[in-house]
Amino acid sequence: MPVSPRPRLSPSRILFVCLGNICRSPAAEGVFRALCPEVETDSAGTAGYHLGEPPYGPMQAALKARGLDVSDLRARQFIAADFDRFDLIVAMDHSNLEDIEVLRPAGKRVPVRLFTDFALDRNADHVPDPYYTRDFDGCLDLIERAAAGLKLQLD
Ligand code: 4NP
Repeated sequence: MPVSPRPRLSPSRILFVCLGNICRSPAAEGVFRALCPEVETDSAGTAGYHLGEPPYGPMQAALKARGLDVSDLRARQFIAADFDRFDLIVAMDHSNLEDIEVLRPAGKRVPVRLFTDFALDRNADHVPDPYYTRDFDGCLDLIERAAAGLKLQLD
């Protein structure tokens, strides 16, 4: 039997999570749904600063330059019930990961993984927040690498 370096994943519903749900996680959702339209996707923020808002304008513009439209997405907050609704939860940074784990219901075994862990080059350990860095294209380059790696791990 061939040796696989990592267990394969078979998620049909993937949730991407960041802090505000207006930059990184909607971008991750937009990139990933274009790559894998058969997988159901959503995104959420651990904070509720921007509830109901569309993705941040400069992030939408950077995505549009790559042919991706995320104008249909609206920000919402991550809730414990998301552990029932998704079979893989993907966090943009360690802080998101910790905030997600705090809400994990007892006995729920849904995997929560860092998005950068899927990037094949593995030279980043989180997705830096472009709301602060203003590097929207660098963020999208990393998201595209992580999304491609995630797709490769799916059955
Ligand atoms: P995101 O970026 O987590 O990638 O959506 C942020 C957007 C807004 C804020 C923080 C992070 N904010 O504090 O308003």
